Amino acid sequence: MSILITGGAGYIGSHTSVELLKAGYDIVIADNFSNSKPEVLNRIEELTGKKFKFYEIDILDRDSLNKVFLENSIEAVIHFAGLKSVGESVAMPISYYYNNITGSLILAEVMAKHDVKKIVFSSSATVYGMNNVSPLTEDLPLSTTNPYGSTKLMIEQIFQDIYVSDKDWSIALLRYFNPIGAHESGRIGEDPKGTPNNIMPYITQVAVGKRDKLSIFGDDYDTHDGTGVRDYIHVVDLAKGHLKAVEKIMGTKGIDAYNLGTGIGYSVLDLVKNFEEATGVKVPYVITKNRPGDIATCFSDPTKALKELGWKTEKTLKDMCKDSWRWQSNNKAGY
Ligand code: NAD
Ligand code: UFG
Repeated sequence: MSILITGGAGYIGSHTSVELLKAGYDIVIADNFSNSKPEVLNRIEELTGKKFKFYEIDILDRDSLNKVFLENSIEAVIHFAGLKSVGESVAMPISYYYNNITGSLILAEVMAKHDVKKIVFSSSATVYGMNNVSPLTEDLPLSTTNPYGSTKLMIEQIFQDIYVSDKDWSIALLRYFNPIGAHESGRIGEDPKGTPNNIMPYITQVAVGKRDKLSIFGDDYDTHDGTGVRDYIHVVDLAKGHLKAVEKIMGTKGIDAYNLGTGIGYSVLDLVKNFEEATGVKVPYVITKNRPGDIATCFSDPTKALKELGWKTEKTLKDMCKDSWRWQSNNKAGY
């Protein structure tokens, strides 16, 4: 029996694949490399000493996906495959809705056809919208402000409706906060195409000399130092959360959402300071205007994941900084 990992060649999928293989699971990865590179597969094998099956397919291609289920004994799916850039989603809403929503619908349809009804879905803290006050709990009202976020909220709703129609499903909706860091070996990590949208790859690219300076988007927020506050989570802690979610869906039926975060908010300036202290490398920065759509503060209440999944984060902000830096400095051009 295997776990199918859609988007397993990506940033979070690759780290989760390593943790699953290390824990003794058989996995099958399906990815179209739209935002990843084949080299990551060699690195996963190198880190684990384990072989796994890989399909270079688009999950929108129903026949190819069907073949994966015909050729393997899939017991559950972890569904990472999706487009994830907020800015790009505003410019290209059709691509985002098509890839993320239609992809998830086709996946659910093929799963049901093969009587595979266990899934872990990559959702996001973005579903909490602009109006809730942190720490955020899973039962708060949800809303979104951009097409990317809307795809996550709609897919959550689709899975809720699937469960209502068929109580044999077992579904975990994981709402990630801000994943950063890399595997401590420095062999796998985040490898964004072009200019990074997210803060940590930007910081590491400044530190490695690829970019001049970091722009900090605003210092007039209502936070302890005026810069935005987020719940940064080490990608390996996040990956381990998926293991716990898989264990949960194997044993029960139902649908539940879980926050995967540390419960601690750090500002952009806290992050820069911790990065400099952890690595000994200076990060020059300027304060620029606020990025439209950003909120002042966003951090989780991770109590439900602790209670129901037996999961909590272990790594510190300094671990995240050190590991991001090790990955970037050992792989200056990415994979
Ligand atoms: P990523 O882009 O590194 O990984 C996604 C992978 O999916 C890529 O390898 C890409 O090639 C693949 N993919 C995309 N569309 C596909 C398709 N139609 N068919 C097959 N493969 C496809 O992103 P990530 O950071 O690892 O994120 C994984 C998931 O977690 C995404 O769904 C993302 O929206 C969600 N998420 C990410 C963050 C974050 O900050 N990284 C936060 C919250 C949620
Ligand atoms: N920031 C900067 N400079 C940069 C990039 C970011 O100052 O160059 C700041 C932002 O203003 C924010 C913080 O750093 O205060 C984190 O920004 P990211 O872009 O790294 O992350 P966001 O919290 O904005 O977005 C993340 C995910 C989204 C998801 C969102 C809500 O990238 O996919 O969390 O969960 F929708």
